[in-house]
Amino acid sequence: MSQDVVKIITPEGQTAELPVIRSEMGPPTFDIKTLNKQTGYFTYDSGFAATGSCTSDITFIDGGKGVLLYRGYPIEQLAEQSNFMEVTYLLMNGELPNQSQSNAFNDEITRHTMVHEKIHAFMKGFQYDAHPMAMMMSAIGSLAAFYHNHMDMNNPEDRRLAAIRLIAKMPTVAATVYKNYIGQPFMYPKNSLNFTERLLHMMYGVPAEPYEINPVAAKALDLLFILHADHEQNASTSTVRLVGSTGANPFACISAGIASLWGPAHGGANEAVLNMLDEIGDVSQIDKYIAKAKDKNDPFRLMGFGHRVYKNFDPRATIIRKACHDVLGELGVQDPQLELAMRLEEIALKDEYFVARNLYPNVDFYSGIIYKALGIPVQMFTVMFAIARTVGWTSQWLEQYETPDTRIGRPRQVYRGAKTRDFVPLNKR
Ligand code: SDX
Repeated sequence: MSQDVVKIITPEGQTAELPVIRSEMGPPTFDIKTLNKQTGYFTYDSGFAATGSCTSDITFIDGGKGVLLYRGYPIEQLAEQSNFMEVTYLLMNGELPNQSQSNAFNDEITRHTMVHEKIHAFMKGFQYDAHPMAMMMSAIGSLAAFYHNHMDMNNPEDRRLAAIRLIAKMPTVAATVYKNYIGQPFMYPKNSLNFTERLLHMMYGVPAEPYEINPVAAKALDLLFILHADHEQNASTSTVRLVGSTGANPFACISAGIASLWGPAHGGANEAVLNMLDEIGDVSQIDKYIAKAKDKNDPFRLMGFGHRVYKNFDPRATIIRKACHDVLGELGVQDPQLELAMRLEEIALKDEYFVARNLYPNVDFYSGIIYKALGIPVQMFTVMFAIARTVGWTSQWLEQYETPDTRIGRPRQVYRGAKTRDFVPLNKR
């Protein structure tokens, strides 16, 4: 990165010189870390829309052009030619693996797929209808109780092992959550299967009989996991980084990321999209719901639409929309909600309100249609997102430890509360 400077003159006439960070990719950036020292001023940016929290080599997004790169590779090429475990290796290590590296990495992940037997007892403590994301967040957080005393966060090997364990165990915990939800026996991971086949087997297999993996389903999940693996400094990744910056246990960090992802404004949107399509019901109701989405007095939003960064098509949505047709066709599934979603998109993208605000379908708009075709219940959609995003969360968590200028995250505020005043005794209030 080359550096030049920007000069700031405050209303009081103080001057400050701030370095400008220019990198090969992405916008020029003012480095404001010395602004307060030079001028006494802070900056304010609600939601951090224009503020970088870190430097990273992992994922690049150009919101204006709808570009998404994982370690420099376009998401379209990875979706077309790679697989989730290879993308996992890429995000964690920075380069695509050769065959022996890929085999060794797959074996390493496979070796860590089981969870402590007490997790099964822990799971049984939940009501059957507890929300799967509540169970995920709790179960992954509880793994911190099993992996804490022997972990030295200053040891890169311990950190890497924690990341491998998290990536490997997320599907096992997710399948346990699903089995608890439907009241079936928990299944153990089958290490002769690959990552997505193992998940399908643990979710849909039963001890009573063999389970035959549907290759279309396994491939569709693998594609969705590639598309959901990482996405720069989104809310849940920023959560993991902030919690990680205190040196907290990695399982606790990922549990915090799951909590953040759960929100309907973030990863919870894939569940909210299907509920919204249910509520709309059919094409005749679309205009009514588009009007609700535009009405400032109505809290209704078009779920799966809009994005903080993409002011163009979310490239993932484009890939998933096409995959919807392919997967539903191969599975022989007719889903009227796909037609409804496409009509909704078509009408919204012609409406001035959405066009003026650059509101396009995002990754969550179509993903639920595929999950539903695979037989995954709506409340498990964000769990699927979390399985994939654990790769991005752990890769960014590892990177933060390796970044020299990492400090504990501690934002400031604009205070609007009461001025200093004296305490009033109770008998005088
Ligand atoms: C994900 O950050 C990431 O990268 C996230 C993610 C990832 O991979 O990690 O990509 C995954 O979270 C995708 C987003 C999923 N969320 C949804 O689909 C929920 C619906 N979308 C919105 O709530 C909203 O678009 C956000 C949260 C995604 C973005 O919010 P911003 O950037 O804060 O935008 P905003 O709320 O300031 O909206 C700007 C304008 C407002 O209108 P005005 O005040 O200018 O009149 O657009 C309107 C909003 O009211 N608007 C919408 C809308 N989204 C924004 N109006 C109707 N429907 C919508 N969906």
